[in-house]
Amino acid sequence: FPTERIRNFSIIAHVDHGKSTLADRLLELTGTIKRGHGQPQYLDKLQVERERGITVKAQTATMFHKHHFHGADNNGANEEPSFLLNLIDTPGHVDFSYEVSRSLAACQGALLVVDAAQGVQAQTVANFYLAFESNLAIIPVINKIDQPTADPDRVKAQLKSMFDLDASDALLTSAKTGQGLEHVLPAVIERIPPPPGNSDSPLRMLLLDSYYDEYKGVICHVAVVDGKLRKGDKISSAATGQAYDILDVGIMHPELTSTGVLHTGQVGYVVSGMRSTKEARIGDTLHHSKSIVLPLSGFKPAKHMVFSGLYPADGSDFEALNHAIERLTCNDASVSVARESSTALGLGFRCGFLGLLHMDVFHQRLEQEHGAHVISTIPTVPYIYEYSDGSKVEVQNPATLVSNSKKQVTACWEPTVLATIIIPSEYVGAVITLCSERRGQQLEYSFMDSQRAFMKYRLPLREIVVDFYNELKSITSGYATFDYEDSEYQQSDMVKLDILLNGQPVDAMATIVHNLKAQRIGRELVEKLKKYIDRQMFEITIQAVIGTKVVARETISAMRKNVLAKCYGGDVSRKKKLLEKQKEGKKRMKRVGSIDIPQEAFHELLKSS
Ligand code: GTP
Repeated sequence: FPTERIRNFSIIAHVDHGKSTLADRLLELTGTIKRGHGQPQYLDKLQVERERGITVKAQTATMFHKHHFHGADNNGANEEPSFLLNLIDTPGHVDFSYEVSRSLAACQGALLVVDAAQGVQAQTVANFYLAFESNLAIIPVINKIDQPTADPDRVKAQLKSMFDLDASDALLTSAKTGQGLEHVLPAVIERIPPPPGNSDSPLRMLLLDSYYDEYKGVICHVAVVDGKLRKGDKISSAATGQAYDILDVGIMHPELTSTGVLHTGQVGYVVSGMRSTKEARIGDTLHHSKSIVLPLSGFKPAKHMVFSGLYPADGSDFEALNHAIERLTCNDASVSVARESSTALGLGFRCGFLGLLHMDVFHQRLEQEHGAHVISTIPTVPYIYEYSDGSKVEVQNPATLVSNSKKQVTACWEPTVLATIIIPSEYVGAVITLCSERRGQQLEYSFMDSQRAFMKYRLPLREIVVDFYNELKSITSGYATFDYEDSEYQQSDMVKLDILLNGQPVDAMATIVHNLKAQRIGRELVEKLKKYIDRQMFEITIQAVIGTKVVARETISAMRKNVLAKCYGGDVSRKKKLLEKQKEGKKRMKRVGSIDIPQEAFHELLKSS
């Protein structure tokens, strides 16, 4: 395929505006997949994605489409020339904006899909700017025009006022009824330029993504920027210098289809005998081993912004959890994993995630796909602490933060984010209150049109990690949309809040909180624990402590728990049943010192801010 007849593009959108549905329709239109193939949303492959209706891992597919430029000379040929279109799918959620930017690096254009009824939302704004900064040709697509509340004119006005996009050339579609879809691919071909690479230059290809396949081993998605790649070539990684033989090469059509060669501008897959996806560094430049090339500018590396400890729920199956985490990280290299041990919970792992949803998805996949039962600790963000001896450390686990007479904390910096919030105007007051409670600083506040307000805030990441989004949704009756990007660190007065049970600190329950909120959060945690820890044979005191100062305290009085007391020595089978139940209940306990703490207590603590 000559490069002039290749187009590489993405579909970007706010969650639920119809990106995956539109992608499926385009694959059907081009005959890449059969119509109504019984598995909706071909590009969303993971089980969690189907359940949650979100795209987690970007997938990519190649399509062929015949197109005749209006008025162009067809050189006397009867056939319309065929174009090769690479649709590079991008995830729609805030946590994965680094995946979005790495997908966009291989594109020259993007379809910006906006729901005709909901209009521009927070992730529309975020994704637009990612595409804009990558210099992509942007084609606005106003989707879901079949809905009774659709108002394409209002959306057009928003596109103009927010992004200065000429909305007269916006496409109007319904991915559901098929209306307007015939204009999409012609627009892709006519408005998006072909990839700019040079076919005579030495091979340079960008590593876009990788996953592990049971039969073939590591499969890498690549974009050939310059030159040509053939099966049997020897290639090297610019990042590691490691050399590999290309065992197979081809396109995703949409399944892996071996072609033996990839030309300049093409997007496809390679199998190269890599042993683990950890060798496949996203954003790496691959080149022929014999040639020396300038590496392509890689894109934003994954940054771990949320950390949490993961421990086996019943203590015994550490190895099973270890195995499950290894299997899962084979396909999600963006999670960092380090072993850690906790006096309360035993051996476990400290995992770093891109964001909260990423963490949730990881937990869910551990349970669903690998049958692992885990206890996770309160999520924390990476703080930088400075000590009196001048040393600075990044604290990813609150339990490891020490401050004693020899080594005193002198300063702390916490990560912040720049948040975009879009809401119907009547909720402005409530949102301002929420953001200031969360220590936010308002940077921008304007109206997109008569009904919608747009706000920009700097917020400490810590404040949005726990339950911010849910609260934002609930105070705005579900109407708010929210997105954020990482920003700088700011100096803050952050202290470590310890939880003590009968005077013993429970390391897995330590958190880092803002000094001004410490008392309130301490109270909340202690009250929750009191609710969830059953009375035991002895008295239990629960304390929240900062340094040596107790900020909250509760006591659970002693009681002998006798589940048979109610049975009056009667029915034996009922007795047995109760005893069984009690045994089961025990399994889900975590014994800390001599105190049994139910798993729910840990889960409930996660929800405290
Ligand atoms: P993420 O994968 O989470 O980013 O969402 P998405 O943008 O891919 O949205 P998706 O394609 O999953 O569509 C969301 C919902 O909108 C689904 O229930 C679709 O059936 C529905 N939908 C998509 N396009 C249309 C449309 O044109 N009209 C109507 N009425 N519904 C649509």
